[in-house]
Amino acid sequence: MGLVGKEQKEKDEAEVSSHSLPTYLQQTYSWAYLNPKTVPILSSSPVVSLILWGNAGRLIKRATMEVEAGETVLQAAAVYGPFSTYLADAVGPTGQLDIIDIAPIQVETTRKRVGAQSHVHVALGDAAIVQQRTYDTVVCFFLLHEVPDEVKTQIVHALLSSVKKGGKVVFVDYHKPSSFHPLKPVMSRIFDWLEPYAKGLWEKEINAFAPDGMMISWHKETLFGGLYQKVVATIL
Ligand SMILES: C[S@@+](CC[C@H](N)C(=O)[O-])C[C@H]1O[C@@H](n2cnc3c(N)ncnc32)[C@H](O)[C@@H]1O
Repeated sequence: MGLVGKEQKEKDEAEVSSHSLPTYLQQTYSWAYLNPKTVPILSSSPVVSLILWGNAGRLIKRATMEVEAGETVLQAAAVYGPFSTYLADAVGPTGQLDIIDIAPIQVETTRKRVGAQSHVHVALGDAAIVQQRTYDTVVCFFLLHEVPDEVKTQIVHALLSSVKKGGKVVFVDYHKPSSFHPLKPVMSRIFDWLEPYAKGLWEKEINAFAPDGMMISWHKETLFGGLYQKVVATIL
C-alpha cells in the first residue's frame, strides 16, 4: 500500500471510530453488506444480474449515460457488480469520480474492485450528509430503497445540495410495477421478507422526498414494465 493509500486508511479508521453504522444497516442488511463471508459472493456480477432479473447491464447503462467524460461525479454508495468500473470509465481520466459508502468493508471492497485509477477516489462517507464539495453529477444507484423513509428524505436533500447549479442527481431504483406485472407478487414478498424500506418507493415518488423551495427540473422514466425507475433531478 502506498503512502496515500495508508494515509487514507488511517483517516477512514479515525472516522469510523467517531461514528457508528446506522441502525437500519446493522439490523436489516448486516448479512448483505457487513458480513465478510457473504460480501464477496453477493458482489459478483452473476449474482447482481440475478437479483435484478437480468437487467443489471441495462440499468447501469441508463445511469452511466447521464455522465460525461471530464465531469466531477459522486457515487453515493457502493454498488455490487461492475457498476463503479463502468462509471469510472464514463468519467474518464480527465474527470474525477468520488465513491462514498458508510460501511468500511464496502469501502475496502470497492477500492479493490476499481483498482488504482488516479481519477477515482473511494472513501468512507454518509450520503445523508451534504458533501464538502459540489459535483457536476451525483449518481444514487439502488440506495434509496434500502433506507427508512426519513433517511430517504435526508439523502435526497443532501445529494441535491451537493450538486452545482445546472448539475444533476441521477436516481436509479425500484418502482411500483403495474398490477398486471408478473413479478409484482414476487417482489412484494421479497420486500416484505428482506427489504422493509423498499415499498416506500412504491408508495411515494422520489421527488416527494425532496425539500420544498429548491428550483429543480424532474424527469422520470420507468423500465422493465415499471419495476425500475430512473429519475433525473436537474438543479436550475
Ligand atoms: C447502494 S446500496 C446497494 C445497491 C445494490 N442493491 C447492490 O447490490 O449493490 C448498498 C450500499 O449502501 C451503503 N449505504 C447504506 N446507507 C448509506 C449511507 N447513508 N451513505 C452511504 N452509503 C450507505 C451500504 O453500506 C451498502 O454498501
